[in-house]
Amino acid sequence: MLQRTHACGELRIEHASETAHLAGWVNNYRDHGTGLVFIDLRDHTGLTQLVFDKEDVPADVRDEIVEAADKLRAEDVIAVKGVVRKRDGGPNPKLPTGEIELVVEKLEVLAKADTPPFQPGDEQNLPGEELRLRHRYLDLRRPAMQNMLRTRHRVTKVARDFFDTMGFIEVETPNLCRSTPEGARDFLVPSRLQAGEFYALPQSPQLFKQILMVAGADRYMQICRCFRDEDPRADRQAEFSQIDLEMAFVTREDVLNTMEAFARTLWKEVLGVEVPRFPRMTWQEAMDRYGSDRPDLRFGLELVDISDLAAKTDFKVFQQALAKNPDSSGTGGHPSTRDGGVVKAFRVPGGAEKLTRKLTDGYAEFVKQFGAGGAPVTKVTDSGFETGIARFIEPITAELKERLKLEPGDSVIFGADGYNTASKALGELRLKVAKDLDLIEDGHWAFLWVVDFPMFEYDEGDGQSGGRYKALHHPFTAPRDDQVDRFLGADAGDTQTLLGILSDGYDMVCNGSEIGGGSIRIHRRDVQQKVFGLLGLDDAEAEAKFGFLLEALRFGAPPHGGIAFGLDRVVMHLAGTDNIRDVIAFPKTQTGADLMTEAPSSVDEAQLQELHVRSVEPEATASTSPAV
Ligand code: AMO
Repeated sequence: MLQRTHACGELRIEHASETAHLAGWVNNYRDHGTGLVFIDLRDHTGLTQLVFDKEDVPADVRDEIVEAADKLRAEDVIAVKGVVRKRDGGPNPKLPTGEIELVVEKLEVLAKADTPPFQPGDEQNLPGEELRLRHRYLDLRRPAMQNMLRTRHRVTKVARDFFDTMGFIEVETPNLCRSTPEGARDFLVPSRLQAGEFYALPQSPQLFKQILMVAGADRYMQICRCFRDEDPRADRQAEFSQIDLEMAFVTREDVLNTMEAFARTLWKEVLGVEVPRFPRMTWQEAMDRYGSDRPDLRFGLELVDISDLAAKTDFKVFQQALAKNPDSSGTGGHPSTRDGGVVKAFRVPGGAEKLTRKLTDGYAEFVKQFGAGGAPVTKVTDSGFETGIARFIEPITAELKERLKLEPGDSVIFGADGYNTASKALGELRLKVAKDLDLIEDGHWAFLWVVDFPMFEYDEGDGQSGGRYKALHHPFTAPRDDQVDRFLGADAGDTQTLLGILSDGYDMVCNGSEIGGGSIRIHRRDVQQKVFGLLGLDDAEAEAKFGFLLEALRFGAPPHGGIAFGLDRVVMHLAGTDNIRDVIAFPKTQTGADLMTEAPSSVDEAQLQELHVRSVEPEATASTSPAV
């Protein structure tokens, strides 16, 4: 076989008159009939135009080579030897190799291809995703996908290098683990050797990395697979990857600084972008101002609480919302769980013209999916308000203009409901308005840290069995140092105090998506036991499920903390896609299927027997729960 001397994207005018060997796939061919064939040869680096020209080929192989070239078809694999020359027909500015062509003297056909179901070289005419996933090897030949594979490689390489220089060591943790009760649904693996017992695939290596800190590893990193049996979404797969990190003897400040330095290095190395230092925002502020714990700061449209002004109007919608009793849930405490009534609003600069009736009618429908009754809108004029709910808010014209910094020509969108519903609905609507009005600039990176999450949220339950506490991050997240005594002092019935306890958890948010989450961990056995208790595990259960952790905490655990970045989400940002399947070489569909290998599949009865498993008729599918 001809050995490659160059890649297909490499040759330039400086190589003119040199002999070169190339190998790759036939991207497209043009047969000019008169003994002249043009082929674009493709590999992962790009395209080179090959010319098969009777005039230019040595006489002894002339007929043979042009005849062979004539038979080439898209996706055949070939190797060629030829001489580089300046393009006869003038340069092609679209290609980096566009100034040259290779006049072929020798052709080897390495593999013929059947007519492919689609042409990876024809980006304009790609088929639907299903066909592409079925023939993923063809799909991955596309330059955009090759670029993605390489971006992903680059991210893991930068991560390994960065953390290596910072003294982290990579340690592998098991994939066959104990099932954990909290978090998402586990993928289970039946044990052959221990009849009736199961392993679970890890939802994350959380406890192993903590135990590595107890074991003195000091700084751990791992690029690992995690498995959560949840329904896939645009940014979520059941099988995904994390850059998982843990550090001993650190405070929150140490972790945030290290991880921020990593993210900034990554953006610099992969995109050449200098990202400024990340602002920090408390969880409460994020909920108040953006109605989200992962606010997108690339644009304004900030939510403003106008409950006090709304109270001065007779508008029924406002009055009804405000009449919601903050303590009606009986939980009191944290606003996120108290859900007292509020009226919030956001200003849309220039909205009077840009927000068409069609859009605003759509918004009223849009917010219903988040439980809100509607999204009243009004336009700002020189004198006051016009259209929509203008007449109801007339009494508060001046104050509203002042509070929202309104200018004539703006619009205002309102939300009136319980705190949670109003915030969530307006938070989602703000994202939609930004997209509709094209407010998000390309190449704008808005990172931030969200900190000071509440330790717990309260799930009311069905009203019969009573509510229960749930960890907002995960059960191993420590209360903030200054809250530990208050936490230990509160008993389970004191929801007011417990829902007010802030944790030492943090999320890294990029352009409105959570790309990493972590915390300072509990390293005291009494604190951990208390958290388990509040989450509904009595001592015996906690011992049975997490005995190994509680035991490890008895034998000298250093203070420690860490984070996990969602590798797939990081690569999505860097590769500029909003579909997680684009950044995973062999992803699963919405129904969890690998269309190429046709997994999952049925298995032999004998295999099941060996595993002590019996298959039963499937029942209706169950819903998913939040992840660890
Ligand atoms: P968490 O569950 O927040 O934390 O996950 C960390 C990061 O992983 C990404 N991620 C996902 N990406 C794709 N598909 C999914 N299904 C998915 N779920 C999560 C997100 C998220 O920020 N053990 C803790 C980390 C720690 O505390 O150190 C954990 O797993 O980008």
